[in-house]
Amino acid sequence: MEFALLILDYDSYYKLEIAGGYCDGKCGVCRKCINNRNIITLIREKNAEFYQKYILDHQTRTAELCKKVSEALSLDEGERRILIQSVLLHDIGKLLIPFNILSKNGPLLPFERRIMEFHPLKGAEWLRERDFPEEIVTIIEAHHERVDGSGYPYGLKGDEIPFLARVLAVCDAFEVMISGRHYKPQRSINEALNELKKEAGRQFDEAIVITFVEMWYNEVKEEKKVVV
Ligand SMILES: [Fe+2]
Repeated sequence: MEFALLILDYDSYYKLEIAGGYCDGKCGVCRKCINNRNIITLIREKNAEFYQKYILDHQTRTAELCKKVSEALSLDEGERRILIQSVLLHDIGKLLIPFNILSKNGPLLPFERRIMEFHPLKGAEWLRERDFPEEIVTIIEAHHERVDGSGYPYGLKGDEIPFLARVLAVCDAFEVMISGRHYKPQRSINEALNELKKEAGRQFDEAIVITFVEMWYNEVKEEKKVVV
């Protein structure tokens, strides 16, 4: 039940919103139970350890980053909740991608890359079928769009991309860089921050990157972990 627990227990404040109402997943008749059971079924597939490490744990760590940046961006409570709920589900479409492609330990072939790039759409479709709120689904659908229009699935540009999806894109990329993936090594925090700055205005929303980088520097200064 890792995935359901991850969502339901992430933070009691979000418990109600994320599942559309708290449910222990046992009654078997309500819509919430059915939703939860579907999620549980997906994660109970074989290779759950991989999913846990590269999807679920990644989503949780990205949610922590989003929580921090939402304060730095002065998001209101409603936006903050929608953002966190979206982050905790944003890569769910990867559970629907063939495992040999998802777990490939090396560069993907063009057709494999194309299949991987379906994950935001597949996730959105899966959530829509289960009546997840549209404001969450559209963020998940757009989390790999790039402000210069070179992203996927639709090639949206700038403000065409929902603001919270642009926030998620920054936190998501940063988390992947500092944690690494099965096919690429982790990078230092400074390298990751430099990459965000380099891609500001191209891959990422420039204003969000500025806020994110400032927030991070302030935090490490406070914690005296590094001298900036
Ligand atoms: Fe993704």
